[in-house]
Amino acid sequence: MTTNDHDCRVCGGRVREFLDLGSQPTANGFLPPEEADGVFLFRLAVGACETCTMVQLIDEVPQEFRYHADYRYRASGSASHRQHFQRNAQRFLRTELAGDDPFIVEIGCNDGVMLGTIAEAGVRHLGVEPSTTVAAIAASKGVRVLTEFFDEATAAAVHDDHGPADVVFGANTVCHISHVGSVLRGLDKLLKPRGVFVFEEPYLGTLVDQMAFDQIYDEHVFYFSVTSVRQMASRYGFELVDAEHTPMHGGGIRYTLARVGARSPAPAVARLLADEHARKLTDPQTHARFAGNVTRIRRDLLALLGEIKAQGRSVVGYGAPAKCTTVTNYCGIGTDLVPFVCDSTPAKQGHLVPGSNLPVRPPAAFADPYPDYALLFAWNHAEEIMANEAAFSATGGRWIRYIPEVHVV
Ligand code: SAH
Ligand code: TYD
Ligand code: ZN
Repeated sequence: MTTNDHDCRVCGGRVREFLDLGSQPTANGFLPPEEADGVFLFRLAVGACETCTMVQLIDEVPQEFRYHADYRYRASGSASHRQHFQRNAQRFLRTELAGDDPFIVEIGCNDGVMLGTIAEAGVRHLGVEPSTTVAAIAASKGVRVLTEFFDEATAAAVHDDHGPADVVFGANTVCHISHVGSVLRGLDKLLKPRGVFVFEEPYLGTLVDQMAFDQIYDEHVFYFSVTSVRQMASRYGFELVDAEHTPMHGGGIRYTLARVGARSPAPAVARLLADEHARKLTDPQTHARFAGNVTRIRRDLLALLGEIKAQGRSVVGYGAPAKCTTVTNYCGIGTDLVPFVCDSTPAKQGHLVPGSNLPVRPPAAFADPYPDYALLFAWNHAEEIMANEAAFSATGGRWIRYIPEVHVV
């Protein structure tokens, strides 16, 4: 359950811990009420490697505990995700997949939010997705799926069965995989000589800028920066040839790796590296300041919720993203402060937020009757949610946000 405190998963260097978010469950392990007592807990803490700068969890939960038939995250759960990944697929179809009989592999295709568009275009593809229930949803959209964890052996098997790939893609998945060395060795077997590995992940810079500490949970083993990804790539014969900002999860980065010398790096790589250097993103002082601000958010949020309760006013949580698990468990927010949360994901409804045990109800419960305040856990979907719930604001309802600091809007 516990990895060596001081061994970097990428380079073996010493990992210096800078933040401890306490005892936490698996963030997407939504439980039926009768199983709440059996929740599995681990110590959620992060540190940075003193050698390669990679920010990562100190302890980790085995992947089989995180991804299985009961995995409840649905990538197609919001309009913005669906649109983003449809565009992503169209871009690949226009570029890397425009040649003769192209082949794309997606690591962690989930419910087929991206590969659905590739399948519709009739292009050869394969999703590698260990969570069987979401894999079955992808298959129902005509997506070809292998229900396995991606690693070196899986990559070799895919190559044997389907031939070499033009593109291997992953979104919000590569940072979930602790055996990243095995993944990169596998890619060396699977990709064509000029093939690319493209992955989009939450960004350490956003975490720090937006104080998005709730992006930290069991599934996110790594918190990538351009600096750390570049070093990671070079250890395995790859080169970071492009890096661009994406709007996902409050601001992510899309990295493109190719074999060393196969493609010339875009100017954006040097520019983003210089930005990170200038803003001291990998400095211990930056991480310490971040950790200090996290404790301030907890203090302010508990003070606000306590005040609202003392005034006899009501609060409901909005959205039950994985992030909600981190915040509620770290702050100690239970049903005394937030009686329930609303979420549009049917697989989460009727279950409890892991650890804090807040019941998850359908969005209809939100208006029945409207509370005085809504605590926005799904803050990365603020625009979509606040537009859908305009009637709440119109009746005088207020939104509580806690990122980058606690405030009411
Ligand atoms: N790509 C989607 C889903 C991200 S959730 C999106 O961006 O929204 C992460 C997914 O990765 C989960 O569906 C999980 O089951 C899968 N996953 C986790 N470890 C994996 C591994 N080693 N190989 C392939 N998929 C993995
Ligand atoms: P998301 O931020 O995509 O994921 P993560 O679990 O990685 O933090 O999760 C958003 C959650 O918010 C998801 O459970 C669906 C829910 N949601 C709503 O309930 N209503 C909405 O209008 C939207 C956009 C999302
Ligand atoms: Zn390291």
